Amino acid sequence: MARHLITSALPYINGIKHLGNLVGSQLPADLFARYMRARGHEVLFLCATDEHGTPAELAAAKAGKDVADYCAELHEVQARIADGFRLSFDHYGRSSSPQNHALTQHFAGRLADMGLIREVTEKMVYSNTDGRFLPDRYIEGTCPNCGFESARGDQCDNCTKQLDPTDLINPYSTISGSTDLEERETKHLFLCQSQMREKLQAWIDSKTDWPVLTTSIANKWLNDGDGLQDRGITRDLDWGVPVKKGGEDWPGMEGKVFYVWFDAPIEYIACAQEWVDAGKGDDWERWWRTDKGADDVTYTQFMGKDNVPFHTLSFPATILGSEEPWKAVDYIKSFNYLNYDGGQFSTSRGRGVFMDQALEILPSDYWRWWLLSHAPESSDSEFTWENFQQSVNKDLADVLGNFVSRVTKFCRSKFGEEVPAGGDFGETEQALIADLTTRMRAYEQHMQDMEVRKSAQELRAIWVAGNEYLQTAAPWSTFKEDPEKAAAQIRLALNLIRFYAVISAPFIPDASASLLAAMKTENTSWPDDVAASLEALAPGHAFTVPDVTFRKVSDDEREDWQGRFAGKRDS
Ligand code: MF3
Ligand code: ZN
Repeated sequence: MARHLITSALPYINGIKHLGNLVGSQLPADLFARYMRARGHEVLFLCATDEHGTPAELAAAKAGKDVADYCAELHEVQARIADGFRLSFDHYGRSSSPQNHALTQHFAGRLADMGLIREVTEKMVYSNTDGRFLPDRYIEGTCPNCGFESARGDQCDNCTKQLDPTDLINPYSTISGSTDLEERETKHLFLCQSQMREKLQAWIDSKTDWPVLTTSIANKWLNDGDGLQDRGITRDLDWGVPVKKGGEDWPGMEGKVFYVWFDAPIEYIACAQEWVDAGKGDDWERWWRTDKGADDVTYTQFMGKDNVPFHTLSFPATILGSEEPWKAVDYIKSFNYLNYDGGQFSTSRGRGVFMDQALEILPSDYWRWWLLSHAPESSDSEFTWENFQQSVNKDLADVLGNFVSRVTKFCRSKFGEEVPAGGDFGETEQALIADLTTRMRAYEQHMQDMEVRKSAQELRAIWVAGNEYLQTAAPWSTFKEDPEKAAAQIRLALNLIRFYAVISAPFIPDASASLLAAMKTENTSWPDDVAASLEALAPGHAFTVPDVTFRKVSDDEREDWQGRFAGKRDS
């Protein structure tokens, strides 16, 4: 039994996330966490809301709310929706927690002690119209690297280069649109990332098993030479972690807060403290301190590709730079983007399906299945309603749902609602077991490797194999000449339902739970031995015919939804 620490990128607090956000981090992280638990490993799966920074301030102002109240409210909303999608976090924390304040201030103090922080008086962009310094993303302009015209002040979405606002050509305020910007002097703390280039390069180079998407982004910024410039880690803002050195004041830094990208990843650690303080766990150091047992932990992070530079360079600079025994990430699984129906998901334009809306139309398993089986791994992928309808109707309703319904109904009508006795498995059954055994080992390998699409494909193939068996065995015909043989066939098929419920649970946990309930069993042990697992439900074991496991999506619904989510959300 191993120990797995699993984190998903922390969603920004301001608003409800769309399905593209979900499939890029939280959902695949949940798949992996559920799988690892199912295999008997000890898992700590953490996520939190990323609450600081100007987006939160502006969203609160727009809602006419105090920013702390706004964050508390939106945290609850996000937590509820995460529950709705059955994201099985051991704790869903908040980057604004007291634990994160203290830990962020600790890291800053420690980095200063290590000589990795310098104070810089610099000119920052001040907007006369907005009456404030404009942080990073609230200045847009032309990217000096690739020429993209709406590059944000912190990062260019086109070429992923991390930027400083003053790098932009022709900058303007995105709050007011004003170009009445001036540079004013202000003092900030800089993290001396450049001093750590060799250490970080060696660390990245040691990660030979990382996905190319992850290492190529990291190496790009290490090797381009300017990816590892010293970076400002403080801001002139009200909302955030106050700049302190450990518990002490930091002279000259009064009224300033840490940059959101400095404190947010530290919340991965603070979240484990929150988990303990909430009474859900009793030892966070076992997961995070290599001097307290965490060197046995395998730590995996999930995120969209735009987050990779911060997790391969900035956060490791904090962790490694502290020279304290913190657990560093072992594997970073990153994702491309999911597009929506011929364009991009757009939060500002309300284009695409948002997490709350998705749950209003269909139960979470439908979405989980589609999203995971189309995860944007090797390239960007696209959500279309046609494709969604097809996947749901074929994979879930026709293949899995139909299998369950035919088997249970046939058994009820011929043998009653219990697993029938009699008959033996013949060649067809042995062939099925052999096929399933091969496929299971492939499925397990893909799941362990976090090959999400390949895992879904293999799982679907396992469902199909059962359907094909049923078609070939045809117990409804066998029954006429040889009821004993039909009994054996149906016994196997009923056991397949339990088997499917167990192995499909990481993808479709609710359906899996209702199938287990219908089969009246709590036996969820993983089928290490496929043959044995297909005898788990013994003759005489009672079951009930479940309600429709998955329903079909009609053409009318598809057209209706397509229209409804094309633009501006109606709330
Ligand atoms: N909030 C960021 C985003 O949605 C992700 C932050 S991940 C963290 O892109 F770990 F750094 F917090
Ligand atoms: Zn660019």
